Formats: sequence, C-alpha cells, structure tokens
Amino acid sequence: MPDHPAVTVTPSALAARYLTVRACTELLCQPLQPEDYQLQSMPDCSPPKWHLAHTTWFFETFVLAAHSGGFKPFHPHFGFLFNSYYDAVGDRWPRPDRGLLSRPTVAEVAAYRKATDDRLHELLVTADEKSFAVVAPMVELGLNHEEQHQELLLTDLKHALGKNPLRPVYAPPSERSSTPFAQLAWRNHPAGLTWVGHAGGGFAFDNEGPRHRVFVDGFHLASRLVTNGEYTRFIQDGGYARPDLWLSDGWAAKRRNGWTSPLYWEGVDRAFTLHGEQSLDPHAPVCHVSYYEADAYARWAGARLPTEFEWETAVGDRPVAGEFLGYHVFHPTRADGDFGSVWVWTASPYTAYPGYRPPAGALGEYNGKFMCNQMVLRGGSCVTPTGHVRPTYRNFFPPDARWQFSGIRLARDAQP
Ligand SMILES: [Fe+2]
Repeated sequence: MPDHPAVTVTPSALAARYLTVRACTELLCQPLQPEDYQLQSMPDCSPPKWHLAHTTWFFETFVLAAHSGGFKPFHPHFGFLFNSYYDAVGDRWPRPDRGLLSRPTVAEVAAYRKATDDRLHELLVTADEKSFAVVAPMVELGLNHEEQHQELLLTDLKHALGKNPLRPVYAPPSERSSTPFAQLAWRNHPAGLTWVGHAGGGFAFDNEGPRHRVFVDGFHLASRLVTNGEYTRFIQDGGYARPDLWLSDGWAAKRRNGWTSPLYWEGVDRAFTLHGEQSLDPHAPVCHVSYYEADAYARWAGARLPTEFEWETAVGDRPVAGEFLGYHVFHPTRADGDFGSVWVWTASPYTAYPGYRPPAGALGEYNGKFMCNQMVLRGGSCVTPTGHVRPTYRNFFPPDARWQFSGIRLARDAQP
C-alpha cells in the first residue's frame, strides 16, 4: 500500500501516466509471436498473456469495482482466472496451470485491457475532488504493480525462450558494450546510527516502512558489482565443487539442481540472453545467480554480502541512475553503478520493519504475507522500469531463485 499523506497529482496528469505505463507493457510485447503469449516454463513463471490480463484485473478489482458506480465485471470468470494470490478476493486458478489457459485469447485479453483502460480513464477525469483523493493512491499502486509485472514479463519470457534450442531473439543485440574496470576498491563506511526506510513524500510500498533507526557497524562496500570474469575464476577454482564455501541449504540446492554455473550460461564462454545467445562479456556484471551462489562466491572471495541496511546507508543519498529498462539494454553491461544492471542480493531476510502493520483489506496481502523464507534484493536491474525503484525499495525472492536479473556486490567488515 502506498504512503500517501496527500494527493498532489492532478487527474489529467495521473490519467496520462496511467496510459503511458499501460502502453509500455504492450510495447514490451511487440516482439512476441502469437505462440509466445502462452508460454509457461515453470510454476514460478507466468505467460505474457497472463501478465497482461492480471495487471488489468488488478485495476478492475481494486479501483473500478471498489470505486465506480454501477460496476459490472468485464467477464464473470476473469476474477477467478487472473487473481494471483489475494485470498480475501476469492478462489483462483492454480498458478502452475496458467499456461493451460488458451482461452481467453490474446485478442480477448487485449479487449479486456482496452475496456478497462477506457473505464479507468473515465473514472479519473470525472471524479470529484473527494473521490479522486481516494482513487488516486489506488491507481498509483496499480501502476507500480504493473511496472513490477513489466519486469516479471521479461524475466519469465526469458526463461521460456531459454528453454528453446532455437535460441529465440527477443530484441536485436545491443550496441552497448561494457568497459574494463579498475581493480575492485573498497569504500569505507563508518559505524553509526542511521535512518532507514521510506521517509514519505511520494509513492512507496508498505514494506519500505515504517522509517526507523538502525545501528550499522563499520563496513566496507565494494566499489562495483562482481563481473562475469571474476565469477569465472570462482568456477575454475572449483567453487561449485567445494561444500566448505556453501550454506547447507545452498549445497543441497546445488546438488539437487545440478548447478555448475549461473543460469543461462553455456560453459564459461557463452550465455543465453534476451538478445539471443552471446559471448560472455568478462567485464559485465554476473547475473542470474541465486542467493546461495552469491553467498558462496562472497565466501570464496574472502568477503560477504552486504545487509540491506548497509546497502541503503551506502547508496541512499546517491542519484538513482543506472542501467534500467528505459535504456533498452536487455542484458546488463555496466558493473560500476549503484543502481540498475542487476538486483543485488543482500544478506538480509525479508521481514517486517519495527511497527509494520499490513494495510486492512485484501491489499494487505500485497507484501506482508510473504515475509518468511525470502531474501531482500536492492537496487533494480536492466529490466526494471526507469523510475520504478528507490533507495528504500525492497525486492524479495527465495534464496534459490535464479531467473531474476540478480547479481553480487561484496561487503566486508571494517575490522576483519
Ligand atoms: Fe501481481
């Protein structure tokens, strides 16, 4: 739920932003072939068509149904098909079977989107001041939700295309290429009591607050991300064959899944990307590693992963600039930024901040009920929509997840 002490946006500005974000989702689907819309390569992934419909269902359910007079659903069964995990809203179609939904068709989902967009636009521009103040934060939440699904659409699509031996190309190869970086340096951060969490004044998800103080001991943060070249040395040094480097759960996951390199790597020379199969760039940041692999690499390197508060303390006052989705680079090339390129695994479990209470109602299920058995990631990736992340933004995934654009930034104690 958003932090919304006051609504400062105008109806016309919000309506314009709404149409821009919705159009961006559809733009991301332009390279798809009809068959691609249906692909579901594993239970954690959803087909592009489902993402298109689910984000629409979110607006229909939490904005239109709740706030527009005389509401009737677009289709009587879409609530069942496209509810993701909101138990308070009702039953839903099983997540692992989303790829079986050959109906509604892509065209029917497009019609669902168009009809919902028309209704929502009408609601925004005709709302009186009082009702707009109630509706606007819900729309802003829906837009941030849609931006999250833009990234998921691409990560899920990549996983599906990566299963195809024809190595389908989503986007033409990028002109951008990485540049060699100097030896990794360590930035010193002194110990101190520091504020963390969202301070208000703009949108944030509920899990970014309440803002509170934490004591962060002295630490060093690496000046950049870990590169493919560095990770290759870990592999060649037997990193995947040394249980002493791994957490017990991580070693079990490695053995169970047969991991010998990051997801999408072919040996240590090539990898599948959304630009097709490419040579591995040794200077680009390593990505598609699990928390377990990041943790094992850090141990091998004589370092550790930063906590989420170390990361936030270190980069919180830096500009949120980096390689994001707006750069049209669908594979990370820059290892030197504080934001973008790859999400950084932190050593912090995803739990509630002191004083956190999920919002009342179904939207209280958005973040709060997932605060167990997941790790926090920070900073955004090359497929995170530009402007979507903040220094306080908390992404979260299970420690064995590898299909997100997740990478490594090292830390170490100030007094080893
Ligand atoms: Fe969702």
